[in-house]
Amino acid sequence: MILGIGTDLANIERIAGTLERFGDRFRNRVFTEIEQRKAERRADTAGTYAKRWAAKEACSKALGTGLRMGISWKDMAVVNLRSGQPQMHLTGWAAERLAKMTPPGHRSVIHVTLTDDHPWAQAIVVIEALPEAVDAGDDKRTG
Ligand SMILES: CC(C)(COP(=O)(O)OP(=O)(O)OC[C@H]1O[C@@H](n2cnc3c(N)ncnc32)[C@H](O)[C@@H]1OP(=O)(O)O)[C@@H](O)C(=O)NCCC(=O)NCCS
Repeated sequence: MILGIGTDLANIERIAGTLERFGDRFRNRVFTEIEQRKAERRADTAGTYAKRWAAKEACSKALGTGLRMGISWKDMAVVNLRSGQPQMHLTGWAAERLAKMTPPGHRSVIHVTLTDDHPWAQAIVVIEALPEAVDAGDDKRTG
């Protein structure tokens, strides 16, 4: 069953401006080390950050909280599989929220997809609950 969906569109130019203005203060408040490493070694640094910004916003919507409720940005992080496929990694308050919204006897899977086409970066997040009995290896949708 679907527990939540969220989407967000981020302006890459706005993120580039914030990076220029606030530098490490912005980077370290919002992005994990993994996210920073990925972005900083790319030619399109701002675009890479903007996709991850959009992912965090979209994830907070899928969690049904928004960012006002005290979820820290770094508690919703994007990690890429070797294939390049992105995944959301939740910690702290976000992980607790996910656990609370997951029905008994189920586990949650977070699906995320990212894209960018200058000046826009977009993320869509879907949170799905699967019966605990379904083994991840049997469920092709979990990738
Ligand atoms: C997936 C792919 C179609 C993306 O196409 P694109 O138009 O260049 O890129 P978009 O701007 O629309 O999307 C980029 C995002 O797609 C996502 N993505 C990349 N590979 C993906 C995959 N295998 N499955 C799902 N999503 C993927 C990533 O989130 C990426 O952004 P990020 O790297 O900042 O996290 C393209 O990269 C591709 O064909 N990859 C094939 C696999 C490959 O070459 N892997 C390299 C491994 S080193």
